[in-house]
Amino acid sequence: MQKIIILDFGSQTTQLIGRRVRELDTFCEILPYNKFPADDPDVIGVILSGSPFSVYDPDAFKIDLAAIRGHYPILGICYGAQYISHTLGGRVEPAPSREYGRQNLTTVDASNPLFENFEPGSQVWMSHGDTITALPHGFNAIASTKTVKYAAFQATGEQLWGVQFHPEVFHSTQGTQLLKNFVVGICGSRQEWSAASFVDSTVAELKQQLGNDRVILGLSGGVDSSVAAVLLNRAIGNRLTCIFVDHGMLRKNEFSQVMDDYKVLGLNVIGVDASKKFFTDLAGISDPEQKRKIIGRDFVEVFNAEAKKITDARWLAQGTIYPDRIESLNITGKVIKSHHNVGGLPKEMHLQLCEPLKWLFKDEVRRVGRQLGMPEHLITRHPFPGPGLAVRILGDITQEKVRILQDADDIYIRGLRDYKVKLSGEEARKVLAAGVPATMTDGEIEVSLYDQIWQAGAILLSTVRSVGVMGDERTYEHPVALRAVTSTDAMTADWAHLPYDFMAKVSTDIINHVRGVNRVCYDISSKPPATIEWE
Ligand code: XMP
Repeated sequence: MQKIIILDFGSQTTQLIGRRVRELDTFCEILPYNKFPADDPDVIGVILSGSPFSVYDPDAFKIDLAAIRGHYPILGICYGAQYISHTLGGRVEPAPSREYGRQNLTTVDASNPLFENFEPGSQVWMSHGDTITALPHGFNAIASTKTVKYAAFQATGEQLWGVQFHPEVFHSTQGTQLLKNFVVGICGSRQEWSAASFVDSTVAELKQQLGNDRVILGLSGGVDSSVAAVLLNRAIGNRLTCIFVDHGMLRKNEFSQVMDDYKVLGLNVIGVDASKKFFTDLAGISDPEQKRKIIGRDFVEVFNAEAKKITDARWLAQGTIYPDRIESLNITGKVIKSHHNVGGLPKEMHLQLCEPLKWLFKDEVRRVGRQLGMPEHLITRHPFPGPGLAVRILGDITQEKVRILQDADDIYIRGLRDYKVKLSGEEARKVLAAGVPATMTDGEIEVSLYDQIWQAGAILLSTVRSVGVMGDERTYEHPVALRAVTSTDAMTADWAHLPYDFMAKVSTDIINHVRGVNRVCYDISSKPPATIEWE
């Protein structure tokens, strides 16, 4: 299959470039800047990403441009553009002031294939400390802004372009058009990558790979493992056995609801209620790390005991997705391999690993789920931590505390699903581009608060008590903290700006209906420096 290679120079938006290319129904791979795959006949073009470095930095990431120049169409973005310019004889200097934020293209060479269908004055997003002050010999400026003379350039007669703005971010209103001009118009993508083609080719590959073998898969109720299960089920039917462990700290009624969903989907699922074991082993334990260790250990024990009963299993399937596997760069230039979430199955089972979603971004997993006809509430489900509510109860864990938190969390999450918001303009485009199912009517979309945010949950501050008054009675009970964040990958997150009337209603509902809670707070910390979960 045709592919675009994105060479990563360490920018925070590299993955976003990948997602935008995939949205153009074109397959792409993100690779460390120094790992260009020589002799891959499927490569049709190369994008050089941005970077936290300046081209003059002694530690700046460098590549041998000659290895790709003239062989493939190339688009440099931000640092990528400055690197091309600097390396080929142009001049890059610190900008008088950091060029950051929205700007408009004041001139655009509309005859250049990179700017086909561009509107005059198009808004672009700049984020750089350096700027190109002279282009290499034979290069032409093809766009500029009020302050950036060489906002975009092309090497005359060559398939080599650079843009100093970021077409991949939402604020560049015609960024997708620019990327389409490059990927489709210039590189000649046949746009053959889609959820439908992925399902067809993956099911065929899985049939071939797995033959008549039996496969085990651990389900969590989350979107990745569920989509992986349905895909495998398409390929090998009930030779797939799924195991879903209830540790007792799932959301309210979640175990039975998800089991029902899986049965409707025709999956062969073993549901294991192991909550007693987990509650016994966690009794009296308050330290967050110890709680996690116990849950991890117990989970492996319970899962393995079930897995071992399937004596003829040959494969362990997992819902690993592409961002889990992208080799990320740290600032020293060393490649850090992101580790897999492999659950440590016993070696004597000799299982091979099968990861059918390993090339997909999260939004693509959702599209594939829809293609497979899965229910929307399974597909749009927020991420939920493996240890469940255990990491959302400060202090030790008891069944009663889990009950309190489940009730509060249930009111909160149902409220988020029920509250609808109308969005337009950039906000609407951003939500739609993230794959939220909504249709634009009169320039507006209506989405639930739940679908607008990355993740939400309640936290029981069970180590804290505060005084309240209910009727004529003094209360001395626990506060619940509510958390809701926006994010694209959980690496960074911002607290969601929920409407005040929503918060007021949820607070009243929780305090009135959940015995044991007399105060509700909202967590307004971003990540970093906080994390999404409290423990
Ligand atoms: P933090 O709290 O590190 O969370 O900002 C980032 C994302 O990871 C989820 N999370 C977990 N997921 N097992 C999981 O499967 C875990 O132990 C775990 N801890 C955190 C968290 O919900 C968020 O989406």
